[in-house]
Amino acid sequence: MSVISNEVLLKSHETYHSPDRIINNAKISSENYLKLYKKSISDPEEFWGDIAEKELFWFKKFDSVLEWNYPNYKWFEGGKINICYNCLDRHIKNGKRNKVAYIYTNENSQEIKITYGELFESVSRFANGLKSLGIKKGDRVTINMAQTIEQVIAVLACARIGAIHSVVFGGFAPHALKLRIEDAQSKLVITSTWTQRRGKKIMIKSIVDEAVDSLGYNVDIIVAQRDGDNLELIENEYDFHKLMSGSSPECEAEWMDSEDPLFILYTSGTTGKPKGILHTSAGYNLFTHFTSKTVFDLQDDDIYWCTADIGWITGHSYLVYGPLSNGATSLIVEGAPDYPNPARWWSIIEKYRVNILYTAPTAIRLFMKYGIEYPAKHDLKSLRILGTVGEPINPEAWIWYYENIGNKNCAVVDTWWQTETGGHMIATLPAVSQKPGKAGLPFFGIEPKIVDKEGNDVPVNTVGLLVVKSTWPSALRTCWGEPERYNKYWKEINGYYFAGDLATIDEDGYIMILGRSDDVLNVSGHRIGTAEVESALITHHYVAEAAVIGKPHEIKGESIKAFVVLKDNAVIDKHLVNDIKFRVRRELGSIGVPDEIEFVDKLHKTRSGKIMRRVYKAKELGMDVGDLSTIED
Ligand code: WTA
Repeated sequence: MSVISNEVLLKSHETYHSPDRIINNAKISSENYLKLYKKSISDPEEFWGDIAEKELFWFKKFDSVLEWNYPNYKWFEGGKINICYNCLDRHIKNGKRNKVAYIYTNENSQEIKITYGELFESVSRFANGLKSLGIKKGDRVTINMAQTIEQVIAVLACARIGAIHSVVFGGFAPHALKLRIEDAQSKLVITSTWTQRRGKKIMIKSIVDEAVDSLGYNVDIIVAQRDGDNLELIENEYDFHKLMSGSSPECEAEWMDSEDPLFILYTSGTTGKPKGILHTSAGYNLFTHFTSKTVFDLQDDDIYWCTADIGWITGHSYLVYGPLSNGATSLIVEGAPDYPNPARWWSIIEKYRVNILYTAPTAIRLFMKYGIEYPAKHDLKSLRILGTVGEPINPEAWIWYYENIGNKNCAVVDTWWQTETGGHMIATLPAVSQKPGKAGLPFFGIEPKIVDKEGNDVPVNTVGLLVVKSTWPSALRTCWGEPERYNKYWKEINGYYFAGDLATIDEDGYIMILGRSDDVLNVSGHRIGTAEVESALITHHYVAEAAVIGKPHEIKGESIKAFVVLKDNAVIDKHLVNDIKFRVRRELGSIGVPDEIEFVDKLHKTRSGKIMRRVYKAKELGMDVGDLSTIED
C-alpha cells in the first residue's frame, strides 16, 4: 500500500535530458535503445544468442538459446562456460593482467589494490585450497564475511570449481545464519574474524561459531584473520591466508553446463522462512555482464563504485560478477557511509576520481539531511553516471542527487530489479531522457506490464501490480528445495512473472515503482518479511502474538512498527520494550528490529486466523481501513 501525493506525481512527470557529453559518447544511443529493444522483444533468441556469442567466452558454444517448459526454462543449453573464467582468465589473456580490479578502502583510509593478475592467482590458489578440503562441484559453501577483497576471492573460488556459494549478509544474527546454512546443507562456512563499522570492531566469527554450534551436523570453517589477529583455530577450522598461500596457483576453471547452479541467495518472502533463490551459470553471467556494460555505460578506464554489501544481490551482480566480467576497476569500501564524518563518501570520490556511483536512495536521503555543505567541499567532477537501486527514490532525492552530487552534468539511472531477477529489469539507459522518481523504461528483453489481479492491463497512471511477460536470461531458476514456492512466481497472475511490487506506467511508457504489494518490507533498501520479524518477536518469553507493518520513514523509506500482544504474566516496565528489541536483534539481526512497539490487547485477524496487517497499516496512515467483512472481531 503506497501513497503518492499530487506533488510527487507532478515532479515525476518532468523530463530530464542527459547531458551532451553522455549522449554523444554512450554505448547505446536513444535511437538504438528503441531499435534494439524492439528486436529483443520480437526475437529474443536471436538477440541474446548474438550477444552471448559476442560478449562471453565459451568452452563450448551452446546448441539452443531458450527452451521453455513452462514455468521452467533453460538458457544456452549445450553450452560450457565458467563465470570465474569470464571474470578473470579472459582479461588476463587479453592484456589486462596489470589492470587494477579492486581498490579496497575502509574507515581509516587504509588502501589495498589488487590487479586482475593478482586476483586470478589468489582465486586459483584459494580454489585449490577448497578442493583440498574436499569441496567439489555442486557442494554448497556459506560465506559470511566482512566487505573485503577476501570475500570476493571466496565467491570467485567457489564459482571456479563449481561449488554453489550462499553468501549471507554479515549483519544477520546466529539463528538466521544457522537457518541458511542448514537449509542449503552447506559443507563449509567461510568467515572473517570481524568487520569494522563506526570505528568499532564487530565480531563475525563468534556469530558463525554460535550458528554452527546449534547445527545438527559438522561443517568446516575457513577464517580470514585480519590485521594481526591471532585466533587459535580448533579442529575443522582453517586459516584463509595459510590455505591460500599453501595451495598451487594452477587451477583450471571447471567447465560448467550453462544451467549448472552458480549460487543460492536467501531473500525474504511473505512467510517466516527465507527463500533460497537459485541462479545458474550462463544466463546470469550474460545478463549481469550486459546490464553492467550498458546501464552504467562502462568505459575502459572508468573507476566504478557500487556501495552495496556483497551479501545482497546488488553486491553479487554489480560489485562482483558484472564489473569483473567487463574488466572494470571497482572500489570496495568497508564501514559506515558517514563515519568518521558525513563527507566520507565525497572524499573517496574525489580521491579516486570515481566516474560511476551506484547506491541506494536511503543513503542519498541521509546525505540530504546532512546538507550540501559536505559534498560542496569536494571535487566531484569525475562523476558521470549516478545509479540508484533497492527502493523507490522520491523525486526530491532524485533531484538532490542530480543537482548536488552530479552538478547537473550526470545521468541519474534508477534501476528496478530483485534478487530473483539477477540483474536490472527497468532502468532508463544513460543516453535516454530520465524522469525523477521513475525507474522508467525496460531493459532489453524485458516486457513489464502493470495489471490488475486478473492480469488485465490497468489504464495509464493507475496503480497496479508489476508483472513481466516472459523470461529473461538471469531469471531465478528455482527456490532451493521448494519448487512450489518457485511456481508461485509464474502462476499467480495469468502466467506472468509476478514481482510483488506496485507500480504505474505513464503515457510515455515510464514505470514508477511504488513499493511492495505484499507483506515484504523494504527498510533502507533491505528486504525483510513481516512474518520473519513476527516470528522473532514471539521468541520473547512475554510475547504471545505480534503483527508487523512498515511505516513511511523520511530516510529509511520504511520503518518497522510492531503491534504486540503480551502473555498474561507479562510485567510491563520500562525495560520490556528494549528487551523485546534485543530479542529480535539476537534472533534475526539488527535490520529486523522494530523502531516502534505498541502493546495491544488482541490482534485483528480474519475468521480463518490470518493477521490483518493492512488494517493496522491503514489506521497508522490515517487511511480508510477498507473492507472489514472478513475480520474476526
Ligand atoms: C525494491 C534489490 C523501487 C522492490 C535489487 C523490489 C525497488 C525489491 C528498486 C527487491 C527501485 C528494488 N525502485 N523499488 N529502483 N529496486 N526495489 O531482492 O520492492 O533485495 O521488489 O533486490 O526492492 O529487493 P531485493
